Amino acid sequence: MERREFIKQGFGSLAGMILVTNVLEAYSTGAMAAINTYLLSDNSNKSHPGIPHPAPGELFIPPLIDPNKINGVRNFALNIQESSHTFFEGISTKTYGISSSYLGPTLYMRRGDDIAITYTNTLAEPTTMHGHGMHVPAAMDGGPHQIIQPGRSWRASYRVNQKACTNWYHPHLMGKTAEHVYKGLAGLIYIEDEESIRLDLPNKYAVNDIPLVIQDRVFDTSGQLDYSPTTTQIRQGYMGNTFLVNGVISPYFNAEASLLRMRILNGSNARVYRFSFSDQRDFHIIAGDNSFLPKPVRVREVRLSPGERVEIVVDLKGDLGNSFSLMDLSSGENLLTLRVNKRANSSASLLKQLTFTLKFPHFANAVRTRRFDLGMANMHMTINGKRMDLNRIDEYVPLNELEIWEIRNTMNMNHNFHIHATHFTIIERNGSSANVSPHESAYKDVIFMPPNSTVKLLVKMTDYRDRNNAYMYHCHILEHEDDGMMGQFVVT
Ligand code: C2O
Ligand code: CU
Ligand code: CU
Repeated sequence: MERREFIKQGFGSLAGMILVTNVLEAYSTGAMAAINTYLLSDNSNKSHPGIPHPAPGELFIPPLIDPNKINGVRNFALNIQESSHTFFEGISTKTYGISSSYLGPTLYMRRGDDIAITYTNTLAEPTTMHGHGMHVPAAMDGGPHQIIQPGRSWRASYRVNQKACTNWYHPHLMGKTAEHVYKGLAGLIYIEDEESIRLDLPNKYAVNDIPLVIQDRVFDTSGQLDYSPTTTQIRQGYMGNTFLVNGVISPYFNAEASLLRMRILNGSNARVYRFSFSDQRDFHIIAGDNSFLPKPVRVREVRLSPGERVEIVVDLKGDLGNSFSLMDLSSGENLLTLRVNKRANSSASLLKQLTFTLKFPHFANAVRTRRFDLGMANMHMTINGKRMDLNRIDEYVPLNELEIWEIRNTMNMNHNFHIHATHFTIIERNGSSANVSPHESAYKDVIFMPPNSTVKLLVKMTDYRDRNNAYMYHCHILEHEDDGMMGQFVVT
């Protein structure tokens, strides 16, 4: 049995605890302080019996940044830094953060705004910062070519011109994306447009409109982040046994007895979640990755693969005094406890009456089909048999031409597929439109690819043409991406 697994199981009983203590003594004395903390503190957090004791936590909500215009431009200044963060009581864990000890602030943008983000890299190593879901010029994309050397800054400036949605930013350095995200480099971007502002949706940030970055992590016995995938774990994706919401282990949130909007990002490297509530209540999905849905859809669970977002609205009107949790059905983990202990302060609209002004293209108008096979060659992850090569352009995609991108997962494992700088709709999954789930009927930029499956996407690059700067498409299981399951295209 692996040591970590042993320790985890050992905590099931007091006898186990003593045994584990002895085992650990032989290992490291550094971990003893953590163990003592665990033994002395109350055992209220039984669902996470890791060695260090989770810092009991209210949900942390990243600050929302909405800079004033200076000469017509809203300037964001962010610092990519080494830091330390308290995941566990009395333990300071080494992390990376973006103007923060872990993760980064939420950037608020309105459609039509000119914005500039200056990222300063104070790490001891190079990185990049990509706007995932952002429709931006290739030179502003923050992909593997826009390297920010230590001590240097890089500025992404563009006009925000896309529909309301929840995007995110994260590093994209070739071969290092997984590790940099793992250490804490990621943050959210809220994009609002005229429609999203006008609609009577919950929109009070941190009150009834809350961002949730869901991640799983491995911590070593002294409470430090452990990113050390073996070859097998690179293949399967690196999975953790401790779950974080906005950098907090099993937090709670004090909610109003009203409608609550949750903007969920699967910010994990590899894990696929099935989000649901512990009392199996219904909720509404209102948005997918890159737009609202045509209209809200009522469901009991939603499956998200890495990089995907979903916005849901859950009705807490009759729940004053009640408490239940957001959970992952796949692992059985409770991720976030909702304590409904505040009276409704905001009116709630009837979601049934909402419809969004979406017009989707029709596949009959597509002019060509491209095929992308997710597979393996020479022991590495590939697309169409090729590993990512920064010096090779794989596809030339004409501006404003509607195309079908047919993705095939030929393997017996999970993958997904993400395209930069655009959004797509899903025509069919495994040959039928009936297999497209509700949250997939919005504009999206990541599509889950279960083992041995196919999807057909309808893709159009509508924004920027640039023969010299490439965009990426890739599997968003970050170990796979770093291993080579990525390709480049230019828009011509
Ligand atoms: Cu979320 Cu190529 O990125
Ligand atoms: Cu992206
Ligand atoms: Cu993959």
